[in-house]
This record gives sequence, C-alpha cells and structure tokens, in this order.
Amino acid sequence: MGEKLLQPPSPEGPQGLAALRALSQERNILAALSALHQEMGDVFQIPLPGFNPVVIVGPEANRFVLVGERDKLLWRNDADPVVDLLHHGVLVVDGEAHDNIRKELNPSLHRRMVAGFIDTMIASTDEIIDNWEPGRTYNMLDEMRKIALLILMRTVFGINFRDRMGEMWGPILKNIAYISPGLWVVWPGVPRPGYRSARKKLDAYLFEVIARLRKGSSTGDNLLSYLVFESGMPDELIRDQLLTLLIAGHDTSTASLAWTLYLLGKYSGWMQQVVGELDKVLGHQVPSVEAVKKLAILDRVTKESLRLYPPIHLGARVAAQELAFGRYRIPAGQRVVYSIYLSHRHPDFWETPDTFDPDRFLPEKVKERPHYVYLPFGGGSRNCIGFSFAQVELPLVLARIFQRYRLQLTPAKVHSHMGATLEPRRGVFMKVEERN
Ligand code: HEM
Repeated sequence: MGEKLLQPPSPEGPQGLAALRALSQERNILAALSALHQEMGDVFQIPLPGFNPVVIVGPEANRFVLVGERDKLLWRNDADPVVDLLHHGVLVVDGEAHDNIRKELNPSLHRRMVAGFIDTMIASTDEIIDNWEPGRTYNMLDEMRKIALLILMRTVFGINFRDRMGEMWGPILKNIAYISPGLWVVWPGVPRPGYRSARKKLDAYLFEVIARLRKGSSTGDNLLSYLVFESGMPDELIRDQLLTLLIAGHDTSTASLAWTLYLLGKYSGWMQQVVGELDKVLGHQVPSVEAVKKLAILDRVTKESLRLYPPIHLGARVAAQELAFGRYRIPAGQRVVYSIYLSHRHPDFWETPDTFDPDRFLPEKVKERPHYVYLPFGGGSRNCIGFSFAQVELPLVLARIFQRYRLQLTPAKVHSHMGATLEPRRGVFMKVEERN
C-alpha cells in the first residue's frame, strides 16, 4: 500500500504568525515568504482566508508545475483580475486554446525575427536618451519604461508610439495597477472603482490600431499584421493578444533594465567592468548582435540581476484534479504557486544567495547547477514567448546607454514592490553625464 499523503504544512507558533503579519505589509511580503520558506521548507501553505496557496520551491517543484503536471495545473482563474483584463490572451488560457494561440504568435517572436529588430531597438533607445540633459537626475524606472514601450510597439505592432505615449502612459500604468496584487487577493469581490476609463482608453486605442490596418494602411511585416491578415482571429481575440503582449512585453523589460541599472549603480566596481568591456568590444560602434554576444560581463550582470530580482517572481496555477507532490496531497481546486524568487535564493543551490555576484554565471559555475533552479523566463511549453526578444533587448539597451552616458546612483532607499512585476520602488534615480 502507498504511503498516506500529507496536507502541506502551514505556519504555526510565534515565528509563523510574525511571517504572516509581515505578509500583510507591502514592503515585507518577500521577506515574509523567505522567512516561511526558511522555517517550513520547500512546501508550505499560506493560511490566509480567501488566499491560501500551496507554495512549492526548488527545481523539482518548478519541473512539477511547468513540465510534469503542466496539463493538470491550469493558469486560468476567473476571479483573477488578469483574466478580467486579458480575456483570452495567450497568458491566461489553457490547453488546446493556449497551444493554438501560441502557435500563431511564436513565429513573429522567433530568434530569427528578433535579429531584425536590432536597429529599431537601438533607435528607440537613442530616441529617449537623446533627451537626457547632462547633470540631471532621472528616474530610470520611467526612462526604461519609455524605451521598452517604444521598442515593443515598433517591433511587434509596427507603430511609432512616440506621439501617443503621453496620452496612453496613464491608462497603461492604471491597467498595470489593476492587475497588481492588492486587497482583491484576500477579498476577491472587493469593489474596485476607478479603472474603467483607463481600460476603455486602452481598448479604444487597440481597436483603432486594428481598424486602421483593416482599412489598408500597412504597418509592415510584424506580429500585428500577421494577426490581422493571416491568423483568422476575430478583432476581440486580436485585442486580447495585443494587450497581453503590450503589458507582458514591456513591464518585465522595464523592471529588469531598472534593476540592473540600480545594481550597477550600487556596485560601482561592476559598473566599471561593464563599461571597460564595452569600450574594448564596441568602442564607438553601434552595438550589433554579434558584438553584444561578446559582452560576457554584461551578460553575467544581467543574469544576476534577473536572479535577485526576477520581474515575474512567481507563477500561480489551479489544480484541475487531485495531485501529489512528493509526500503532499494537492486537492482539486487548490491554488499552487511556484516561486521563482525563492528558487533563485534557495540556499541549497546558491552560496550567499542574497549577495550580488555576477560570477555565479561563469560557464563552469552554471554547469554545476541543476536545471530549473534558475528560471527567470519560466519553463516548459508555456515559458516566456519573449525570451529571445528580451535576450537581445536587455543587453542592447544597456550597452547603448553605457556607451553614451555615465550614470551615478543617487542615494535613496529602494524596495522591491510586488506590482504586476517585481519593481524597484520608488524608482531608480540616477544622475547622467555624457561620455565623450
Ligand atoms: C526581462 C524580460 C522578461 C521576463 C523576465 C519574462 C518572464 C516571463 C515568465 C516567468 C513567464 C512565465 C510565467 C508563468 O509560468 O506563469 C512569461 C510568460 C510570457 N511572457 Fe515574458 N518575460 C519577459 C519579457 C517578455 C517579452 C519581451 C514578451 C513579449 C514580446 C513577453 C511575453 C510573454 C507572454 C505572452 C507570456 C505567456 C506565455 C504563455 O503562457 O504561453 N515576455 N514571461
């Protein structure tokens, strides 16, 4: 007879209660999760009424969710505001519907296509940083969002978003706030006024973009054109994919770029190494994919930044049927969370996990590490569709910035904010000086 499966443990006693109390304070959520992980191990349940996910951590847990039981752990949860916003976007549908949409989107975001985006990525970066005034301090979280939005809209939609960015900035941020964790997590029916007009504005813009294309004004060879002319999708479904890509495709890069600038500002020795390497490899040449591949130090820095501050720091699923993870029973309907953040700081796999040390990503060190311990882009068949895109975008933007400017972090407290992505709040304030 098989061993009886156990219920995942919940925190008890003063330590558990302290962690739970910390969970309710915005600035301490990650610290509380880390405390729970430390105290309870790789499987635990958060016993909050209305929100009691089983959190599972580590390579086996990640493989379980992303590969092993992928078909039995569903993404879609109708109570989730992300589903309310994205309707049938590829991120929030499951099974065959997911795989079919994903097949339509994949080719336009394939590595081969991304190679053709490079000039646009550089031009978009230049367009924003051309405006930087030497000696002034900028919030890099905002600056990186501008760059990421211009890049995404030009490459995926074929649209120069510059003229509309001011008008759409507010609605985009408001919609991101709508899907960010808040009271609704523990109180699903909580009234949430104040978002409708932002949703309407963004929807009107997306339908306008689709309609313009249908009237014959081409935006070139890009994903938007493909969806409108070749996919056979109705406009509502196209809107869902566009909004998904607009949000998932820029909020993540924004956070990652801002965190990397923050870390380089904080660890100026690494900043010097990155700039030294850039000068040696690129000089004054405009960065190309081949050149960027030679920027090994920048690559390690970016990977380490994604380890410490993964923009998507967890993935939530719902068990479609009863499952067993190790000794534990997961009943049908149970919320399951795989924690990228905790896996990336798991002391069994990372020495001094909270320390910034890009050399963890030296090739010989990477070889020693099990699969699914480091997974900033998720994994399995619903891994990040923008992986190749981000792999090129992140180093290109950073290389271009450091080629043209010296950046200095101004002393201000930064904390990890759990929005739609893990974000440096209240921002990353850096003084810029032009390089010769
Ligand atoms: C630093 C940049 C990025 C990071 C760290 C990141 C991270 C992730 C992660 C972890 C997932 C899987 C989530 C889960 O398992 O629930 C994901 C999915 C996704 N990402 Fe990204 N992403 C990034 C950039 C992008 C870009 C540039 C795009 C679009 C151009 C994009 C579009 C998507 C979409 C559509 C999905 C859903 C895929 C599916 O369910 O099939 N992401 N991303």
